Amino acid sequence: MEPILTKYVREPNSFTLDFYLQHEGYDALKLALTKKPDEIIEMVKASGLRGRGGAGFPTGMKWQFVDKKSSPRYIACNADESEPGTFKDHLLMERNPHLLIEGCAIGCYAIGAKVAYIYIRGEFFHVQQILEKAIDEAYARGFLGKNIQGSGFDCDVYIHRGAGAYEAGEETALLESLEGKRAQPRNKPPFPAVVGLYDKPTAVNNVETLCNVPLIVAKGPAWYSALGPEKNGGPKLYCISGHVKRPGVYEASMHITLRELIEGHAGGVRDGHTLKAVIPGGSSVPILLPDQLDTQASFDGIQKAGSLLGSAAIVVLDETTCMVWLAENLLHFYRHESCGKCTPCREGTDWLHQILRRIERGEGQMKDLDLLQSVADNIAGKTLCAFGDAAATPVLTTLKHFRHEYEAHVNEGRCTLPATWRARQPVGTTH
Ligand SMILES: Cc1cc2nc3c(=O)[nH]c(=O)nc-3n(C[C@H](O)[C@H](O)[C@H](O)COP(=O)(O)O)c2cc1C
Ligand code: SF4
Repeated sequence: MEPILTKYVREPNSFTLDFYLQHEGYDALKLALTKKPDEIIEMVKASGLRGRGGAGFPTGMKWQFVDKKSSPRYIACNADESEPGTFKDHLLMERNPHLLIEGCAIGCYAIGAKVAYIYIRGEFFHVQQILEKAIDEAYARGFLGKNIQGSGFDCDVYIHRGAGAYEAGEETALLESLEGKRAQPRNKPPFPAVVGLYDKPTAVNNVETLCNVPLIVAKGPAWYSALGPEKNGGPKLYCISGHVKRPGVYEASMHITLRELIEGHAGGVRDGHTLKAVIPGGSSVPILLPDQLDTQASFDGIQKAGSLLGSAAIVVLDETTCMVWLAENLLHFYRHESCGKCTPCREGTDWLHQILRRIERGEGQMKDLDLLQSVADNIAGKTLCAFGDAAATPVLTTLKHFRHEYEAHVNEGRCTLPATWRARQPVGTTH
C-alpha cells in the first residue's frame, strides 16, 4: 500500500500550511462543514475506523455516545504517546501537524464541540513548538477560530503539555491532568463521552485516530474501509524497534503480516542472529513466538493469535535477549509509573520488580516463580485501570513461554544466555 498518512513526511516543508494546502489540505474540513454533524459521525461509523491509541474501539460509535444534550462538549486528543516502543504520533505531529489539526476541527464539528485540547507528552517539547506554529498558521488562514471558512462554525485548539507520566495517557487520568490535578484515573462508568473534561461530554481520541478522519471525509468510508481487512480498515502505522536492521515507522494496510513488516519493511533480524520473540503492541501485551510470524497484523488478527495490536509498537527480540531481564526491565518501568491509586498495582508492581530483580541476579529460589505468578495474578483484572493488566503481562507472558529461563537463573545462579550486553537499572533504584 502506498503511504497515505506518512506520504510526505520526508519532504522538507511537509509541516507548513503552504505545503499542506498544495496537497489538498483542509479540503476535508471544508467538505465536512457542508454536511450535517450527524452525517460525519455516520461516515466515521461506516468507515469502521478503530481507535489507534491501544484499545481499538470504534471511533464513530464513541462519537455517537457523546451526550448531545449537555454542553459544552470537548475533544481531548491523546498525544501522550508513552507506551514503550511507540513513536508514530510523534512522527505525525512533527511532519504532518495540519492533518491532526484538521482531524481535531472535524471531530469538534461532528460532536458539537468548539474546543479541542491536544494533551502532548511532556518530553515532546520540539514537537509542541511545531504544533503551536501550525495552529497559529491555521488561525491566520481561517481554518481555526471564529466562523471557519464562513461556515458559522467556531473551533479553538489548545495544546496542554503533560509532565511525563505514562499513566497520563489513560483517558480519564488525562482528563484529570488537563484539569490541573494529578494524573490518576477516574472510576468508569460514567465514561468520558458522558462525564468527561470539567464533567462535560468529551471524546478522547488518539493522534493517529484523528489523523484518519480527514481521509474518511475526503475519500469516503467505502474507500477507507476497503484499504484493510473487514473491521480493520484504513492505513495503519507500525512502530518497529528492537533487534531489526531498519527500525522505524512503517505505514501499511492491516492485511500485512508480522513477517512482511519485520522481514520486509524492517529488513529482518540483525545479521548473525535469530528471532526469539515479538511483542506486537507495546510492552503491555503478550509475546508472540517466531512460528506466529504469519499472523495478520490487524486488531483481529493479533487478537486471534493470543495477543493485542495495542499501539502497534512491534518490539523484535533476538536470541540474545534474556527474558527474565526483559521482565525485570519492564517492571522497573511499571513500578515507577504506577500512579498509586489502587493497592494491587501500587504494591504489586514493586513486589514483582523486587522478585524479578533477585532472580535475574541469580539470587532467586524456585518458589519465587510461583510467587511471581501469584502476585501477577492478583494484579491482573483487579485494578482501577488497565495499567494493572499491562504491568502483570510481561511477567505472565515470559513465565508462560520462557519458564525454563527463570529456572536456569535459579539453578545456575546466573543468566545462562550469551548476551553481549545488558542494560542495568542504576544502582539504588529498587525503592
Ligand atoms: C496506562 C495507559 C496508558 C495509555 N497511554 C496512551 C497513550 O499514550 N496514547 C493514547 O492514545 N492512548 C493511551 N491509552 C489508551 C487511552 O486510555 C484511550 O483508550 C485512547 O486515548 C482512546 O483513543 P482512541 O479511541 O483513539 O484509541 C492508555 C491507556 C492506559 C491504560
Ligand atoms: S492500576 Fe495502577 S495506574 Fe491504574 S489506577 Fe491503579 S494504581 Fe493507578
